[in-house]
Amino acid sequence: MVWHEEVGSTNDIAAAAANGGSPEGFVVAANAQSSGRGRLGRTWESPPGAGLYVSVILRPLPHALPLVTIATGVAVAEGVEAASGLSPCVKWPNDVCVGSRKLAGILAEAGSSSAGDYVVVGFGVNLRPAAFPADIAARATSIEGELGRDVDRGLVLAECLAALAHRYRLLQGGARDAVIAAWRSRAAEHLGRPVEWDAEHGARRGIAHDIDARGALLVRVGDRMVRVVSGEVRWLT
Ligand code: BTN
Repeated sequence: MVWHEEVGSTNDIAAAAANGGSPEGFVVAANAQSSGRGRLGRTWESPPGAGLYVSVILRPLPHALPLVTIATGVAVAEGVEAASGLSPCVKWPNDVCVGSRKLAGILAEAGSSSAGDYVVVGFGVNLRPAAFPADIAARATSIEGELGRDVDRGLVLAECLAALAHRYRLLQGGARDAVIAAWRSRAAEHLGRPVEWDAEHGARRGIAHDIDARGALLVRVGDRMVRVVSGEVRWLT
């Protein structure tokens, strides 16, 4: 593991290390990021000390690849719970939440070099309230903001990594169902709710039902089940 005071993005540092042959399990963490990024080209606000900014090199087997984000979301929720007592939920595709507010996000990016294929899985966890832009502040929360007391950042990091090691090992070993079951129980408060997403011919709506074995969201539309695999899903309640 390497720790940096400030980087552009820990995902970039980890990808460079993976390209150079660093092994699975190599961790890059930072106190701040100047160009932290989220899904769909968004910025991940990463002020000094306000969050955990962490990236891990994984080299998943083909069968494990589609569930890396799902397994990491479960692991981050479990790590936060073990370190703080909070019990976060997960929200497809990559959010870890307390109620409707986002506590953490996951960004998995795949790459390939002569040293082999890899996935860098990055997670950002809000540790304490920060001066976020107003639109983000309205939708975000933090561990300390929820608990009203300090948390040990090192403990949160260690528990998240331990939980990720456990969930990833299960996934690699073929125990996909255990990972999906853990995700489902943490997603219970969101499943059954209406969602909207952008399909080829415009916005569509349905009721979030479950995820499938490849991590796609299954949405009930009338009497049909539609697989939503990527892009933006808007949770309507
Ligand atoms: C999202 O919710 O859109 C994903 C956010 C992922 C943020 C983390 S912080 C560590 C790693 N480095 C980045 O630049 N992004 C991820």
